[in-house]
Order: sequence, then C-alpha cells, then structure tokens
Amino acid sequence: MSRLEGKCALITGSARGIGAAFAAAYIREGAQVMISDIDLPRAQQTAASLGSKAAAIHLDVTDQASIDAAVAAMEKTFGGIDILINNAALFDLAPIVDITRDSFERLFSINVGGPLFMLQATAKSMIARGQGGRIINMASQAGRRGEALVGVYCATKAAVISLTQSAGLDLVKHGINVNAIAPGVVDGEHWDGVDALFARHEGLKPGEKKKLVGEAVPYGRMGTAEDLTGMAVFLASADADYVVAQTYNVDGGNWMN
Ligand SMILES: NC(=O)c1ccc[n+]([C@@H]2O[C@H](COP(=O)([O-])OP(=O)(O)OC[C@H]3O[C@@H](n4cnc5c(N)ncnc54)[C@H](O)[C@@H]3O)[C@@H](O)[C@H]2O)c1
Repeated sequence: MSRLEGKCALITGSARGIGAAFAAAYIREGAQVMISDIDLPRAQQTAASLGSKAAAIHLDVTDQASIDAAVAAMEKTFGGIDILINNAALFDLAPIVDITRDSFERLFSINVGGPLFMLQATAKSMIARGQGGRIINMASQAGRRGEALVGVYCATKAAVISLTQSAGLDLVKHGINVNAIAPGVVDGEHWDGVDALFARHEGLKPGEKKKLVGEAVPYGRMGTAEDLTGMAVFLASADADYVVAQTYNVDGGNWMN
C-alpha cells in the first residue's frame, strides 16, 4: 500500500518505541520521515536502519529554538511538513503527597508544552505553505481517568486530549486535521521503566506489574507498538479527511467512551 506516497512526516521522540514503529510504518506507506529525538545517536541509528527515506535530527521539544530548528530542517530537507506526530513524552510515578514541583514541571513541559509548541510551529509552516496537513498527538488511556500514583502523567495526557480538541477546531479552517491516539499499555522500554517504578512503589517483583496489566486487557495481552501503526497511518491518510479533533483509543478494549 502507498497511502502516504509523497508525504513528509516529522515524528518527535522517534528514536525508539512507538515513534520508531510509526516511522517504519509511514515509510512502508511511501512517506519520508524525520526521526527526531533528544537522543541523537539513537535517532541516527534508527534512521539508518530505516533506509534512504529516513533522516535524523536532534530535537528537544521543551526548547523553542530546537523546535524552530526542526521545522526549518523539515522545510529544507523535504520542502515542508505534511504530517507531525507529537510522540515524545516522559512518565513518572508518585503518591500525591510526594509529587515534586520538579517532576510536575518536567512532565508538563515535555508532555504538554512539547505538543503545544511543536504543533504551533508546525501549523505556522503548514499555513504558510498552503497545503494543509495532519497533526497526531499521542495521548493515553491515562488521560481518560486519573490513577493513584500517576497523578501528574494522567493530568498531562488529559491536557493532550483537550489540546487536540482546541487545536483541531482552530486549525481545521486551514485544512489541518488535528487528532490524537490514546494507547493502553504498550510493551517496550517505556513500560520497562514504568514496571520498575511500580515495583519500587508497590513492592512488586520486576515484571509483575507488566504481567498484571497485560492480563487485565480485554484483548488478553499488552499492546505492541505495531498494534498502533494502523491508526497512525489512517489518521495521516486521505481516509481521515473528515476526522477532526478526535482522540481514538487503541488499547485492546481497556477503555470505552
Ligand atoms: N508505552 C505505553 O504503554 C504508552 C501508553 C500510552 C501512551 N503512550 C504514549 O506514547 C508515546 C510514545 O511512548 P513510548 O512507549 O514509545 O515511549 P518511549 O519512552 O519508549 O519513547 C519516548 C521517546 O521520547 C524521547 N524524548 C524524551 N524527552 C524528549 C524531549 N524533550 N524531546 C524530544 N524527545 C524526547 C526519548 O528519548 C524516547 O526516544 C508517548 O507520548 C507516551 O506517553 C505510551
């Protein structure tokens, strides 16, 4: 299939995990992809593994100069941005009484400020180019309801869902569709870290939290990054022209709304 033939995508935090899987899927669909990440060596490694349709740049989504440089790199390398995926995010865990201001500010800066200022800079570039575009934000089932120990991360992902609605409604007049994906529990390095945090806070053995959350998914297992690629391709494709300001759950049945 070549549903994204001729399209150019910028994916934040795509050196590994879900972002890297999205990059591979977009390339399979004919797109060119900029792997952007705070971890440049890993981004370069990932881009090299994806072949000539991938390039890599350093990007820190909390730094406006870095955001502007990424947009400029897209314009120089590919002539503009057709698709942005706001994928970079951080997780943290603490009881409400132990949440630190540092954790709060770090997570909101990356998980909410990142998507907001990335989509702002990208939208300006898309509007100037006059060809519309697609912006996909990575929300989470954590944004659908709060969870003990996960207060800050849940609040950031609820903010991503809200931002998706506001930006979607504001930018649709420019032919820019903004939507979001809310994954459930997706195995990978991110969840290795989450599992370790739960082990510390809940006195579990390593791997035990993963096992528990996987067994609780109606589908019967944790998700994989590949499980999400169909939705990411759909939202970037012409099939989603009339899809605006929505957040789609891709979570094996964990959440219904
Ligand atoms: N894995 C899950 O179970 C799960 C569930 C729901 C939602 N999500 C969301 O999906 C997205 C991808 O998750 P993942 O599991 O692939 O995570 P991950 O931790 O494996 O990857 C995140 C990437 O973001 C990069 N990054 C961190 N800070 C950055 C910054 N300031 N600027 C640019 N890049 C930065 C990291 O280097 C890393 O490569 C995230 O938004 C996450 O919140 C994941």
